Amino acid sequence: MGNPVLRQVARELSPQEISSSETALLIADMTDTLRDYGGIGLAAPQVGVAVRLAIIEIEGGPTRYGELEAMPLTVFINPEIEVLDSGVAAYWEGCLSVPGLRGLVERPQHVRIRYTTVEGKPAEFELHGFTATVFQHEFDHLNGKLFVDRMTDMSSLSFEREYERYHS
Ligand code: NI
Repeated sequence: MGNPVLRQVARELSPQEISSSETALLIADMTDTLRDYGGIGLAAPQVGVAVRLAIIEIEGGPTRYGELEAMPLTVFINPEIEVLDSGVAAYWEGCLSVPGLRGLVERPQHVRIRYTTVEGKPAEFELHGFTATVFQHEFDHLNGKLFVDRMTDMSSLSFEREYERYHS
C-alpha cells in the first residue's frame, strides 16, 4: 500500500500479449508469490505490473479467510463482474498489499464474471457467497481499489493478532 501502481486502473491485455512469453513469466512469478504468502488470490498490480490479470487458487475447506470451495489455480484475464443480486454480506478481508490487517467489507453475494482464459478463450460463471467476495476483492485491484476503500465502518479494522483473538 502506497505504491502508485496499486492505485492505477490497469490496462487490458491484447490477444498477442496473452499468448506471449512475458505473460507466462508474469503468471509464474505471481503463482510463486501467491503460494509463498499462503494467499488465495493475487492481481498483477500487486507485483508491480499494471495489467488486467489476476490468479486465484483455493485449496478448499477451512482457509485463513473462512470456508471456501476448492478452485485449482486459475488465471483471469481482462475480467468483468456483473452484480446479479444487490444483497450484500460482510466478510473479513485481508490483502498481501495491506499486510498485517483485517477488516469487514460488505459486498454483493451473487455475481457473474466474464474473462479471457490463459488460452485466449472467453469464459464466464456465476459465484455466490464468500467466493463472490474473493473475486470482487481481486478484480478491484485492477481498478486501483483496495479492501480498505470498500470498508463502510472503519472500527472493524484490526491487526491480525487482534483479529485472531477477538473476531475469528
Ligand atoms: Ni488484495
